[in-house]
Amino acid sequence: MQLVRMNKKTYSEFWGKESKHLADQGIYAALSKEIPDENVLEIGCGSGLSTSYLASTRSVLAIDNNEHLVSLANASLVAKGVAARIIHADLFALSEKEKNEIQAFSPKGIVCWFIGSHLDDVDRRTSLSLAITERPKKYRENIEDLLLTEMLCQPTVEWIHLANRVGVIESVSEHDIIEATKDDYNTHLFSSNGFEITRVKVIDWERNGSNFMYVNAHNPNLMPGSAAPRVVSILAKRIRSA
Ligand SMILES: C[S@@+](CC[C@H](N)C(=O)[O-])C[C@H]1O[C@@H](n2cnc3c(N)ncnc32)[C@H](O)[C@@H]1O
Repeated sequence: MQLVRMNKKTYSEFWGKESKHLADQGIYAALSKEIPDENVLEIGCGSGLSTSYLASTRSVLAIDNNEHLVSLANASLVAKGVAARIIHADLFALSEKEKNEIQAFSPKGIVCWFIGSHLDDVDRRTSLSLAITERPKKYRENIEDLLLTEMLCQPTVEWIHLANRVGVIESVSEHDIIEATKDDYNTHLFSSNGFEITRVKVIDWERNGSNFMYVNAHNPNLMPGSAAPRVVSILAKRIRSA
């Protein structure tokens, strides 16, 4: 498939289709079962399908910087008859008013599923000295770092839930994926911030029928062989008070 540089609008159109594909496979339903039914701050609502699953049993405050996706999300919530508040804002530049709204919401959890954006955003928030294939991964990591800052990780936050897509080589066992994910995220993100991973789950993901243009970063540890798509659900809980 030829890679095309998506802008805000085309990204919203592609993600609208991709998220329907994820919803049709039950992936949002499976992810939302992994977390408690408590007030949740959703980072990146996309077209609102993830939001509607979350909001069916919880209060949701979502943040997204793409106005096209915010419109799709609000329309999707109305169509599904569920309510959630969506703030149109950039996580890298939240105003005092937006930070105060998050604080007043008193989130118990933060959800950040499939975080990413079009290349204009990615280029703005990552170093251009990185190869173009490495920047989306760095963008995701920069957002993950923001999740643990005081601005988002209020003292009320007890858990953080991430969902990432991965490619799994046949010879790698589910146990190995789970242990490698725990080791990586505890070391780089959670342990130094008073959180610890309590559960990692690997969920099947059928990519047939999806035409979303994912960019795969180079992985020096990857063994040769064809990689099967999976979704990794990562739940971390607070182990030290803020
Ligand atoms: C790949 S979509 C995933 C959406 C949703 N979580 C889902 O699972 O369907 C990523 C979302 O994060 C949003 N996003 C990316 N960077 C952001 C930022 N800096 N501030 C706010 N939202 C952002 C994008 O606009 C997009 O809606």
